[in-house]
Amino acid sequence: MANENLHKANKAKNDEFYTQLSDIEKELSHYKEQFKNKVVLCNCDDPRVSNFFHYFSYNFESLGLKRLIATCYKNQDAELFSTHKSDKAIYLEYTGDKNGNRVPDPEEIGIKHLNGDGDFRSSECIKLLEQADIVVTNPPFSLFREYVAQLVEYDKRFLILGNDNCRTYKEVFKLIKENKLWCGYNHVKEFKKPDGSIQKFGNVSWYTNLDVANRHEDLILYKTYNPQEYPKYDNYDAINVDKTADIPMDYAEIMGVPITFLDKYNPEQFEIIGNEYDLEIEKGRGYVKGKRLYSRIFIKNKK
Ligand SMILES: C[S@@+](CC[C@H](N)C(=O)[O-])C[C@H]1O[C@@H](n2cnc3c(N)ncnc32)[C@H](O)[C@@H]1O
Repeated sequence: MANENLHKANKAKNDEFYTQLSDIEKELSHYKEQFKNKVVLCNCDDPRVSNFFHYFSYNFESLGLKRLIATCYKNQDAELFSTHKSDKAIYLEYTGDKNGNRVPDPEEIGIKHLNGDGDFRSSECIKLLEQADIVVTNPPFSLFREYVAQLVEYDKRFLILGNDNCRTYKEVFKLIKENKLWCGYNHVKEFKKPDGSIQKFGNVSWYTNLDVANRHEDLILYKTYNPQEYPKYDNYDAINVDKTADIPMDYAEIMGVPITFLDKYNPEQFEIIGNEYDLEIEKGRGYVKGKRLYSRIFIKNKK
């Protein structure tokens, strides 16, 4: 039991890092017109520290938002939340500037107490989710699958951060294949820890079902197929492509490409056939001349 609690606490600690304002501004600049007249929910966000709340409250008028809601999770591990002054989980609502100074003042932000701990899965948080048009946050990575499943279940628009590896999760990949989730524009490399220090992450990116330009732009291909450069896998009938930019323009059958391909994926240009998991590829990975390769996505050029 003690071990289990320790494991949970460690997991929670790994989830405790904050997105920097510059990363939010950089990504959000691409979606402005899609936020007009919308109710935005940030549901893994302590408004006292969340730059998501900061961004949306300060840009409330320029985005033309209807309402902003933020809910804050109150973890049971007191040590983790020593920086949080309140005992109760809270949520906040902002409906825009009232006194004309174009700044969200404390008296304009309604602070309300939640009955529970603010878990995004709790019924009171789900009630707030139901009121939202677009959910934007950086959810706990350890709960990413559940988090996305809930957004899909409630048929919400979303723009969230997640590890690049999430793309290979069975449940997430299924959504990618069904064109229900795709990649945003940027990767994020650094986050703030609760003590203010910076934590570097190799591979975190945005996932969304808002419209992004990449999905309508063809990837420019310049290479031509030859069997030496693009060998077939030992254990699957497809050619291996090591870099997305090197996808041959004249190959009509199945190709295995790196998972970063999804950053550029235009469903009008390519069809996703599957990944190692759902194609049930032997030994779980593609092999070329006995060499195990990195995770691949198997695609076909539609054109
Ligand atoms: C990766 S942090 C990101 C925080 C904030 N969204 C940001 O980007 O700065 C994830 C946050 O989710 C909170 N969290 C953990 N479990 C949660 C749950 N079940 N429901 C809601 N929030 C949760 C954590 O306390 C943590 O602050």
